[in-house]
Amino acid sequence: MSCIPRHVALIMDGNGRWAQAHGLPRHEGHRRGASVVKKILRASEKIGIKYVTFFAFSSENFSRPKSEVTFLMNLCEKFFKKYRKTICEKEIRFRAIGNLSQLPLTLQLAIEELTSSTVCFDRFHITVALNYGSRNEVVHAMESLLNDKDVNIRDLTWKNFEQYLYTKDLPDPDLIIRTSGEQRLSNFLLLQSAYAELYFTKTYWPDFGEKEFLLAIEDYGARERRMGKINDKTNN
Ligand code: FPP
Repeated sequence: MSCIPRHVALIMDGNGRWAQAHGLPRHEGHRRGASVVKKILRASEKIGIKYVTFFAFSSENFSRPKSEVTFLMNLCEKFFKKYRKTICEKEIRFRAIGNLSQLPLTLQLAIEELTSSTVCFDRFHITVALNYGSRNEVVHAMESLLNDKDVNIRDLTWKNFEQYLYTKDLPDPDLIIRTSGEQRLSNFLLLQSAYAELYFTKTYWPDFGEKEFLLAIEDYGARERRMGKINDKTNN
């Protein structure tokens, strides 16, 4: 494949609609959605993508019915526990971004265990956004910045500021994929996606898989990324 993005971020949308279309309860859509995460990780590793980020739970998702919130929290916790050994054996770096302090304690513990046991790995990076929202991230960053006695606010640059974001150790996403036909970012990595390429597909997340993921990567490879500059070939 021609041009492989370094960092791909995915908005996994359409679990509920997939379930409804199949006459199943919403949680079945989420359950199947979790198995798609595994497929995307495998495909990413295979083609040499180094960073993959999944939007698993937005700060706004807390206003869903309690039973759905609990189901999603348990699903993530089980996923992290189930794959902990494999993630460590494969030397994969794990991170979670978002306001993690509001998550159930057992989930926080599972995250903490995975994060700390993979902190020295750099081969392949998985990040899961949980209770994440870009606007909250900015407010949190401002609080941390103002509490930092070493910062002179007058000398602030983007490079300094981004050190206070949840994503401080991650490169910006090159490609953001959203499933289910919605064409918006929904408060996901808004600052980090300043120059990201966006890919939208009508496929619901539970039906998304390696084949369509590779199509998105191919589509990305055909795009011209100028990052605000002029392409040399057109610059006569
Ligand atoms: C959006 O579909 C999906 C979610 C809110 C949850 C996604 C979470 C998982 C797949 C859990 C596993 C993830 C990891 C990384 C372990 P929706 O419910 O908004 O669908 P709808 O718009 O059709 O109702």
